[in-house]
Amino acid sequence: MTADDFTLSEHDLAVLCRTFRDDTELDHWLPGGDQYRRRAYQCFHLAMGRLAEDGPGALTAIGQPPPYVQSKQINPVAGDIERSFQLIPPDHPATDPTKRIATAVALLLEANGVLSAARTPHCLVDAHYMRLIAPGHPAPEGKHRDGLIAGSAHLIQRTNIGGGVSAIYDRYQPDRELRSFVLENPLDSYVFDDERVLHYTTTITVTDPAVGAGLRDVLLIGFRERE
Ligand SMILES: [Fe+2]
Repeated sequence: MTADDFTLSEHDLAVLCRTFRDDTELDHWLPGGDQYRRRAYQCFHLAMGRLAEDGPGALTAIGQPPPYVQSKQINPVAGDIERSFQLIPPDHPATDPTKRIATAVALLLEANGVLSAARTPHCLVDAHYMRLIAPGHPAPEGKHRDGLIAGSAHLIQRTNIGGGVSAIYDRYQPDRELRSFVLENPLDSYVFDDERVLHYTTTITVTDPAVGAGLRDVLLIGFRERE
């Protein structure tokens, strides 16, 4: 997906850029106490039965979401830990553009039979606002699944960095690369069926230290069944 697939204005993008700059905080869960990642988190309830008709109205931001837990099997780096992150509150200006991005992804997943009102009537949608400061690792866990139904990644900005090549692999034949690409422009995105594929993004490095910091801001969206 690219910017044309979303109904976001320049103003919406500026709101998201400010959110990554001002409202993310240091990720305390990186191995070795590394400090190359800042993040914030938001969680929505998605009523699939209302998606086609109501669009973003089918998503409701949750004020006090439950802690985020991945199993150790899925995430050897930070699995089996109840992680809580800096929260983006429902009345934050980023809520609306993020809801619209998640809506476009949910519609695509529904069109491809990954989500459906019959099988997955109530989903939780996680939105991770991830700022990587080069040099850093977008995927310290290596080729991995997120342990969800599906997910997506949306570039918000990429400034003064090299690397950051994303790839998708067959879940059962991890050496089999299905696709490889670089998210270059704002809202360049990929969407994946987490049951079927693994994903990975290579290390980012600073292109020109004289210019300043190297940054990669990516909005990660995840869809899981509400228990
Ligand atoms: Fe992931």
